[in-house]
Amino acid sequence: MTQTLLRGRLLSFVRAPQSLTDSESYRYETDGGLLIENGLIVESGPYADIKAKAVADAVEIDHRPHLIMPGFIDMHLHFPQMQVIASYAANLLEWLNTYTFPEECRFVESAHAQRIAGHFYDELVRHGTTTAVAYCSVHKTSADAFFAEALKRNMRMVGGKVMMDRNAPQGLLDTPQMGYDETRQIIAEWHGKGRNHVAITPRFAITSTPAQMEATQALAREFPDLHIQTHLSENHDEIKFTCELYPEATDYTDIYARYGLLGDKTLFGHCIHLSDREADAMSEAGSVAVHCPTSNLFLGSGLFPLKALARREKPVRIGVATDIGGGSSYSMLRTMDEAYKIQQLLGERLNPLESYYHMTLGNARSLSLADRIGTLDVGSDADIVVLNAAATPAMALKMEVVKTLPEELFLLQTMGDDRAIAETYVAGVAAKSAI
Ligand code: GUN
Ligand code: ZN
Repeated sequence: MTQTLLRGRLLSFVRAPQSLTDSESYRYETDGGLLIENGLIVESGPYADIKAKAVADAVEIDHRPHLIMPGFIDMHLHFPQMQVIASYAANLLEWLNTYTFPEECRFVESAHAQRIAGHFYDELVRHGTTTAVAYCSVHKTSADAFFAEALKRNMRMVGGKVMMDRNAPQGLLDTPQMGYDETRQIIAEWHGKGRNHVAITPRFAITSTPAQMEATQALAREFPDLHIQTHLSENHDEIKFTCELYPEATDYTDIYARYGLLGDKTLFGHCIHLSDREADAMSEAGSVAVHCPTSNLFLGSGLFPLKALARREKPVRIGVATDIGGGSSYSMLRTMDEAYKIQQLLGERLNPLESYYHMTLGNARSLSLADRIGTLDVGSDADIVVLNAAATPAMALKMEVVKTLPEELFLLQTMGDDRAIAETYVAGVAAKSAI
């Protein structure tokens, strides 16, 4: 029996924090032990207690004084956009047409898709992200590369081949039948294999004809347990064009509702400019609004009202994500730093406990996967991040005056990036140091 015993300061959330002083919302063990066996957390608690329970030859790794947390979860990013990052465009639609669509055409080639998949998981692991929800390109080859590499690395990943049959270059179009057939094939070949989850992925209403939306609806009916991911209400020109394409719908959200895509497994990227009616509809359906702060700032899309959506009488479920390659960093720390600044501009406060809740348990709950990831609970997958708040000289200098856990978390979020990730464990195996 091979066991791994991690020692360090353990931090994980049990519910959403209500305030910066809400110490009931998390568990914090200053000298903690985490025992791992067969990729799962089997014991968690004070180090001395856990050490006593470990087998004599358990491999012990001392991460003191670092923080040990559940691995970060990225709820929305685009696997074929690693080479789209940092493309200079005025807005979303120009960025899609000028850089993103041409780049995604390259993923028809298996060799290219496989090469990028290797880099993709390397970057996630380097940044402490252990689960991500990704869009592949329209090509089945891209989904095959995405899932094959996740399987090889034993990572819990959610992804899907995008379905898109109009308003894009020819090399990036499927048909309603092809999108349906290939998605079914991908589900048959990859869903539940290793820790892979397939998501039904119509890109957005602009690139799907009503016939393709019907095919998506058929998939959603046949596979009600699968996630659905798409984009919603990101940019004013996008919203206007979308509503022109579906004049019978009340608004953008209503388009998806009409095709049965508004449910509690649906993840809507962006949702920046929702009306009250749309927010109510999302709340009633239990759909998730996925906030992508670095992307929203980079593309000038707008300021996502995270706090306002969360405290409504009918609250909207929230996820947080990088949205690579509209987003500009793979780091969930950088992501939450920008999320904080967006709330500042809206006159709201996003406290550091809330940020770390969102990156871990919050996103796990929004994915309906909190029984597997997002906590350090016994029985969970041993997907873990180790954080060093003194990773750079400037961070170490600031750490000299940091006195509380929330202050340390805020420093990590404000100044941290991949350098602050001391180690990333995937199913109990040290993965960052192995890159
Ligand atoms: N809307 C449709 N496709 C995309 C995409 O690739 N990135 C972003 N940010 N928005 C989209
Ligand atoms: Zn996106």
